[in-house]
Amino acid sequence: MSQASSVSTAGDPAREPLTRRDALQGRRSDRAALDAILAAVLARIDANLAVFTDAFPAPSSVDGVYPAIDNIEWTNGFWTGMLWLAYEVSGQERYRQAAERQVRSFKDRVDRRINVDHHDLGFLYSLSCVAAYKLTGDLEARDAALAAARLLLARYLPQAGIIQAWGDLSDPDQAGRMIIDCNLNLPLLYWASQVTGDRDFADAADRHIAQAARYIVRPDSSTFHTFFMDPVSGAPRVGKTHQGFSDSSCWARGQAWGISGFPLVHRYKADPSLLDLSARLANYYLNRLPSDLICCWDLVFTGLPHERDSSAAAIAACGLLELARGLPLSDPDRAAYEGAALATVETLGARYMLPPGAPGTGVLDHAVYHMPNRVGVDEACIWGDYFFLEALVRLTRVWEPYW
Ligand code: GLY
Repeated sequence: MSQASSVSTAGDPAREPLTRRDALQGRRSDRAALDAILAAVLARIDANLAVFTDAFPAPSSVDGVYPAIDNIEWTNGFWTGMLWLAYEVSGQERYRQAAERQVRSFKDRVDRRINVDHHDLGFLYSLSCVAAYKLTGDLEARDAALAAARLLLARYLPQAGIIQAWGDLSDPDQAGRMIIDCNLNLPLLYWASQVTGDRDFADAADRHIAQAARYIVRPDSSTFHTFFMDPVSGAPRVGKTHQGFSDSSCWARGQAWGISGFPLVHRYKADPSLLDLSARLANYYLNRLPSDLICCWDLVFTGLPHERDSSAAAIAACGLLELARGLPLSDPDRAAYEGAALATVETLGARYMLPPGAPGTGVLDHAVYHMPNRVGVDEACIWGDYFFLEALVRLTRVWEPYW
């Protein structure tokens, strides 16, 4: 894997000017208000702990309540990640004990290869087993995460320089498809490289992030959801949406995965162009928000009657904070990114939280899982709950990511 892997993009265009920069950079945080929202999220975790210790929340709720599922989805790590965050902020053993039971389930899942034929191993294992290893030194968790990283590396297509997102590698319909969401799966590879000293993990991640920057990010700094490469010749083929409005529109959650994933990769691969890329995506995203800063599910829409996606807003808030952390103090938009993240979290806390309800009730209402298939529309989505809590932790503490 010796091909150049520095990140450069189509002509490296400039960031769009931020239309609301003055308003955003003036935001000041109210620690007591953030602590109150955090306490409400922990109370929701407590209310759900009995249901979701030996079972997991489904990806999206039904009438606000998550059905209980086995460890079979791409989303199971988010709840375990919430348990680890709750343990970190509270020190309460009940969260650690529940998280550790789930870590055993993740070990079993990778040992028995249960639904691991996709790239979402990073989402699954960074937030469960890598978190366990970082917080408690659990060696069994480390080994399970390394096994997951090896499966992820096996999806690397050397000619195309990408990790294939979905499907068996012999499936012609999925051949050579990368997706923007994969930015959040790459930290598992970088972590595995650090732990083992094996450069192959990091080299694959370096190539993938460079290809994502080159082909998934469009010249106007919007993003394709997915992009096909020719797995044999390595040539770029075509951008396609999967969960967005159209092939040429910008799926809001994809943009949020981009805003957050490029700076997370920057933690491992110090390359300032990753921050510049994230900033370009951030300005495109921030300039297309409704007035309360909670995005519609696709950025082609900017208000009613179109559904919001609170989960994308929560991801973007974490991404903006990660971006601001990496940028120099002199960056003209840095304070606006912090202000936008804060305002997003405050709005989510004030207007988008589900009230207490039956066991299994989600945290954030008004998310969208898959609009084209009408799945999880105007419901809670478990990754939205996770990133909302992660954003609250980032805003109230110095925090070392599980990513
Ligand atoms: N990674 C899949 C999704 O965001 O729906």
